[in-house]
Amino acid sequence: MTQRLVIAIDGPSGSGKSTTSRAVAQRLGLAYLDTGAMYRAVTCAFLDAGVDPSDTAGVIASTLGANLEISTDPDDQWVRVNGTDVTQRIREQEVSTKVSAVSTVPECRADLVARQRAIIDAAPAGIVAEGRDITTVVAPDADLRLLLTADPEIRMARRKLDLDGEVDAAALADQVLRRDSDDSKLVNFTTAADGVIHLDCTYLTLEQTIDAVLALAGAR
Ligand code: DC
Repeated sequence: MTQRLVIAIDGPSGSGKSTTSRAVAQRLGLAYLDTGAMYRAVTCAFLDAGVDPSDTAGVIASTLGANLEISTDPDDQWVRVNGTDVTQRIREQEVSTKVSAVSTVPECRADLVARQRAIIDAAPAGIVAEGRDITTVVAPDADLRLLLTADPEIRMARRKLDLDGEVDAAALADQVLRRDSDDSKLVNFTTAADGVIHLDCTYLTLEQTIDAVLALAGAR
């Protein structure tokens, strides 16, 4: 019997953690969980309910009450909230701007962390899970825990490429630097916790980063 393998990857916006995690899952035949997509999907839920981002009680109620379904197939990613597919919408700027209303609220985090743990436990062969607090809070017992970082200029350039260049400099800085600063108030994702391997990919191509993670996974 082959053993289950759980790989947890965290890091700041634009560090390449999503693309790397998905590629590693594809190559190792594992499931893939994008936890950021869950924060984004419940953002759609509170917006649809007409809740203002500053209404913390409303955001909490929308989060806890959300019927959230997410694909863990690295080849077919989708996410649904309250029966509606929001796969495309979660990448829109409105959601990127307002998602901190969810990610900075401890009650919302606790709810999503519990859902994420259940998804990770249910993956038969194992999973690559990524997100800010994966190595420290969600899956501290993962077989391999990695912190992927890159210098801020590189991260902004990568996020711009993700968005096909259709974003101005202020929006880009908002999406990368302001969100990281907001999120870092609750989760430390800039320094590696004990037992977490720090991989700085500022000077690595995507392919080199994927290879480095595969090598580390192979060494487990
Ligand atoms: O990785 P991303 O940009 O899709 O994440 C969306 C937002 O959710 C971002 O503000 C970080 C936050 N997030 C979080 O706080 N914890 C996670 N495990 C995943 C995402």
